[in-house]
Amino acid sequence: MPKAAFSRPADHADIEFYLNGKKHTVSDKFPATTTLNDYIREVAGLTGTKVMCKEAGCGCCAVTVTHALDGEAMETMSINSCVCPLYSVDGWQITTAEGIGSQKDGLHPIQERLVEHSGTQCGYCSPGFVMSMYGLLHQQPKPTMSEIEGSLDGHICRCTGYRSILDAMKSFGVDSPSGKCIDIEDLNKNLCPKTGEPCHSQTAGGRSHPCPRSLAKATVDPKSAAPTALDLDLKESRWYRPLTLKDLGKVLHQHKTHSIKMVFGNTASGIFKYEGPFEVYIDIRSVKELHEFKNNKTSLVFGAGTTIGKFRKRLIEYGEKPGFHYFPRVVRHLNVLASVLVRNAGSMAGNLMIKHAHPWFPSDLFTMLEAIGAKVDIYDSKTNRITKHTLMEFLRKVDMKLKVVTAIEVPSWTSQDHYRSFKITPRWQNAHAYINAAFKIPVNQRKITSRPNIVLGGINAETVHALKTEAFLEKKTLDDEVVKAALKIMFDELQPETLEVGGSPQYRRQLSVNLLYKTLLEVFQPMKFSLQSGALSLERPLSSGLQTYQEKQDKLPMGKGLPKKTAPFQVTGEAKYTNDIPMMLNELQAALVTTTIAKGKLDKIDTTEAMKVPGVLGFLGASDMPAGGLNNFLPLNYPVFPVADELFVSENIDYAGKPVGVILAETQAAAEEGARAVKLTYKDVERPVMDVKEAAEKNMIHEGSTESQERGNAEAALKEAACVVEGECEMGTQYQFFIENQVAVCVPTEDGMDIYSATQAADMVQRAVAQMLGKPMNYCNVTTNRLGGAFGGKIVTSLGIAGAAAVAAEVTGRPVRLVGDLSSNMKYTSKRWPLYAKYKAGCDKDGNLVSVVIDLYVDSGHLNCITSDLISLSECAYYSPNFKFTFKKVLTNKVFAGPARGPGQVPACLVMETVLEHLAKAAKQDPIRLREINLMEEDQTSIIGIVMKHVTIKKVWDRLKQTADVKSRQEDVNRFNKNNLWRKRGLSMTAVKYDMDYAPPGLPTHVSVFAGDGTVTVITSGVEMGQGLYMKATQAAAYRLNIPLEYVKVRPNQNNVTPNSLMTGGSVASERSVASVLSACDQINERLQPLREKMPDADWKTLCGYAMFMAIDLSAEGHHVNQNSPMNIYATWMAGVVETEVDVLTGEFQVKRVDMMADFGESMNPIVDIGQVEGAFVMGLGAYLTEDIFYNKETGQLLNDGTWEYKPPTTKDIPIDWRIHFLPDTPNPVGILSSKAVGEPPIGLAMGALLAIKQAADSAREDVTGEQTFVPISAPLTVEKAQMATGIQVNHLHMGGKN
Ligand SMILES: Cc1cc2nc3c(=O)[nH]c(=O)nc-3n(C[C@H](O)[C@H](O)[C@H](O)COP(=O)(O)OP(=O)(O)OC[C@H]3O[C@@H](n4cnc5c(N)ncnc54)[C@H](O)[C@@H]3O)c2cc1C
Ligand code: FES
Ligand code: FES
Repeated sequence: MPKAAFSRPADHADIEFYLNGKKHTVSDKFPATTTLNDYIREVAGLTGTKVMCKEAGCGCCAVTVTHALDGEAMETMSINSCVCPLYSVDGWQITTAEGIGSQKDGLHPIQERLVEHSGTQCGYCSPGFVMSMYGLLHQQPKPTMSEIEGSLDGHICRCTGYRSILDAMKSFGVDSPSGKCIDIEDLNKNLCPKTGEPCHSQTAGGRSHPCPRSLAKATVDPKSAAPTALDLDLKESRWYRPLTLKDLGKVLHQHKTHSIKMVFGNTASGIFKYEGPFEVYIDIRSVKELHEFKNNKTSLVFGAGTTIGKFRKRLIEYGEKPGFHYFPRVVRHLNVLASVLVRNAGSMAGNLMIKHAHPWFPSDLFTMLEAIGAKVDIYDSKTNRITKHTLMEFLRKVDMKLKVVTAIEVPSWTSQDHYRSFKITPRWQNAHAYINAAFKIPVNQRKITSRPNIVLGGINAETVHALKTEAFLEKKTLDDEVVKAALKIMFDELQPETLEVGGSPQYRRQLSVNLLYKTLLEVFQPMKFSLQSGALSLERPLSSGLQTYQEKQDKLPMGKGLPKKTAPFQVTGEAKYTNDIPMMLNELQAALVTTTIAKGKLDKIDTTEAMKVPGVLGFLGASDMPAGGLNNFLPLNYPVFPVADELFVSENIDYAGKPVGVILAETQAAAEEGARAVKLTYKDVERPVMDVKEAAEKNMIHEGSTESQERGNAEAALKEAACVVEGECEMGTQYQFFIENQVAVCVPTEDGMDIYSATQAADMVQRAVAQMLGKPMNYCNVTTNRLGGAFGGKIVTSLGIAGAAAVAAEVTGRPVRLVGDLSSNMKYTSKRWPLYAKYKAGCDKDGNLVSVVIDLYVDSGHLNCITSDLISLSECAYYSPNFKFTFKKVLTNKVFAGPARGPGQVPACLVMETVLEHLAKAAKQDPIRLREINLMEEDQTSIIGIVMKHVTIKKVWDRLKQTADVKSRQEDVNRFNKNNLWRKRGLSMTAVKYDMDYAPPGLPTHVSVFAGDGTVTVITSGVEMGQGLYMKATQAAAYRLNIPLEYVKVRPNQNNVTPNSLMTGGSVASERSVASVLSACDQINERLQPLREKMPDADWKTLCGYAMFMAIDLSAEGHHVNQNSPMNIYATWMAGVVETEVDVLTGEFQVKRVDMMADFGESMNPIVDIGQVEGAFVMGLGAYLTEDIFYNKETGQLLNDGTWEYKPPTTKDIPIDWRIHFLPDTPNPVGILSSKAVGEPPIGLAMGALLAIKQAADSAREDVTGEQTFVPISAPLTVEKAQMATGIQVNHLHMGGKN
């Protein structure tokens, strides 16, 4: 009965809520810090809701909740379950991905569309996206495509590149060309409209099924859903839920001597993760007064608990009313404050209180409200009085101890008041600002009638107003001189603090001035057309995509663009990942204790405080290795790792974040808290070397790491060149940012150890763990189900994770689970190689390359570990008759660098494209033409001495040039740049060659045919991590056995079935698994052949049935052995055209359009391969543009170790118009089934985006400063660097003279 859902449980120490329609009663046994996500996953066992960052920053934990907080209206919305406290959900209804659809009951339309559009790869982010969309459709049943695109800002997907997800979700738009928007009835189609209880209905197929769907808002009476007061005596703390301000006051007063935390949305815990624990928690979300809204005619008063989402909606509602004309501008800014998920839960007061507690925090809300002239009401529990304050008084003068913000009053303005605000961020959305600024300019024509408000966030803890500038501008009439003077005053008065992470003081200062300039340009409206572009901000239109490919019909279902068979499990949350394995009896949770310095010696490990953390059971370190076990997690005598590295530090520390041991505890939260509480002391501490350039200059080269190749005589040839350039470029690292963190579960068995490891390299895990335990390899059974993304980051690092868990399991004799939290993942995982390169290059007078000399230093970190294909990729798709490439690995005090999608290609493209760009500029050549005339040709010898065959790059290039309409778009760009001073565009065209190498040993695969019905199971040693390997293996088996696709299932990788596989990596694992499947199927076919000849009319099932009784072996192991031995057996060729637009004054950019052409041979599954192209390209955009990493120079600690400061691209960083074409009729003569590998090559084309942005910045610099020299490239080319590259200074800003 619906009412019963909200009546208090008999025991007031319990809370009650509905999870997917099922009532859950939770006692007071959990700590107050338990989150809804902890409960859903660990107690309710609904692992479809994922967890990764626990910072409200990635969105994989999204669920939909329905509640009536103010007792007035039921509302349904999506939130981040990872920051939502469990005890605040009393009376709520919660829906997870499993609750809206399943294999058994049928998929929800949202899930269906995601499958149809191939919007899943690893699938780890998928349930979160589904639940966000589900919440949106509840809030807004008829959204436009643009609203949908704007609402998925709280999610990170590292695999797909987002286009397919957006297409799936946008199909629900009222304006979608597919015309497939959804009715609210369909949204909740399986609800019992009367009771809201789980009911039974019929599926389309007539199957009866339970429908534990979320309750629609219309089905439950909000009055009966009104929250009730709570007073819970929890483990270690007390939890209150008062309903009125008076009661809240009483609780505050009663606990005035205790440590208290008031909680509304609790989203701030995503930023300040380690605050607390507190003695008293007060859930203020149901305090009635905090939800009030009043229209006082001259002002609007918002209860302080108004969520930012609701505040936004109200402003939209009032935006056309007199006095509130400025609201649309505020709404525009609110659209980029946090994410929809955070805005649904987070309150206005919560945001302001963050600013109050941490004045450096660049709160967008505070900046805007202060410029607007808003006031806050503050209730004092000591006096029971409410006082009104300006925002500045609140910030500077009010001690908020035992006080509550109750309301925020927003005034109406005169029609002459002009409002403008900005938020300049490292990526388009869901990022905090380098600088935010809000301006109120009271103005009549060009006269400023009274003192303006110039409010800034992100300068330092003190600066809020640019006071001198405000005073100067008061009553001034704007003209060229006044504006120039005002900007100069502002420049002089701002003194930005130096931040460890984020924009430099120089940038933040210039940016602030530029924002005032933008605002004054808008007010002033200069006559000069070219200046007008400065007044506007970049607007991102709706994105779109086009994909063209050929489907071959001769090997079906091979070659067909089919959605993955596993996609339905992924979208419903039924797909199981390693950390979804149910908790076992006696299981221990482990967390890594890691070093906080990068260079020195470990002195003492003090676990005293850690052992006091409730639930912590012990610590294991280097001295606790099992008898006979080696404290080395890299397999000995293994050609891939000719080095050793300690699992746990015994003495020497060579990077910050290195594991010293593990804390073992009853819960993961306790293990993590315990790990943080371990005190490490050090001796012989030294300043680390963290920078590749510094290491290169100091000649800190790993022994034996220098490699060099030369074609012709590069140095001598340079002397003959008509034009010679010399320069440097550099690039930082990139964290792989797989959405499933590193994890292993190790279970001691009667005679060994079962290891469930999220690894790309099960064979290595087996070797490494056996070595660490001092046991034979057959002691260890390694199982790897699918991975939630890997991108190279789960090869080497996974060995240490599995090793630490296995050592703990061996020592304790209990199952041990080790799930690295995001911070330790980021510190410990071997990331992309940072690099520094010096180059010299020359061309003849026509731009033909004469010689290229590159000296590349890659930062290998503390170990000389995996070597990549750097040399073979170094020349990219271009040919210079004389080419010398030398690379050295430098030693720094960082975790060793390892594989990361396109490990050799990303550096190669950065350096070679820089060389070509530089040459083009110096030789006054069109950069596209210069590239074109230097493309590699058939029979040219590559830098590693291979005569190149089947070179298709010219064909790819020419076709792309035509389809992308390069010539006329280049003219458009030039015209645009001529007409606009403060907005510039760039257009680049680049090419990629990616050598593919089928190195031994290959990927063994086991194929079993079941005689009973002819169905087939494939177990491949290739690991599925989103790249569609299982799907291609399924297609291959169906093709070669000539059976329906439905007959084939691929099961998780088990190393004792398919041993000795090396690893899944280097793009070729899908192809090689397919080859192994084909080989196994061929063996089975061969054995069946005599029977087939005897029974020519027998169908497959009958044949198999007979075969068994004739003792024909229906299972076989396939192995792909590379017959064509030259190391480089073929190359994948691609070209891309990228057009960008840059706001010169802020550095913000947009990737306006991308066109790509690829020779992928005959694609095995074009839909899967398109997904690989898109995912790789967007990861490349991250590497080249947004993903900056910062280290503390003294300690070597990684500073941006979470989603708050580290910024992979999100849905609005992708190309706005994205066209991908696969070159037709180009079978790969040496590839498996004529295909080519796809996973890595496209990443290098993202370098084109960097070049196009740089061209735009160069154009501005030339216009403004007249300088035409080549500015060295430093990646990532962030918003900050793009702006700084323009060279604009305060004296360049003007209004065009006399107007
Ligand atoms: C991923 C992420 C991205 C974000 N991005 C941005 C951004 O771009 N720009 C921006 O400005 N902000 C951003 N934020 C901050 C966000 O707006 C705040 O986290 C949110 O508004 C806090 O509201 P809450 O209700 O969840 O507060 P809570 O987390 O519940 O509380 C925060 C603090 O405020 C106190 N508090 C709450 N209500 C009251 C009250 N009525 N009276 C007194 N004290 C109170 C609490 O005791 C606590 O100390 C981001 C946050 C996250 C997690
Ligand atoms: S786990 Fe909740 S947002 Fe990342
Ligand atoms: S599919 Fe989105 S993270 Fe893998």
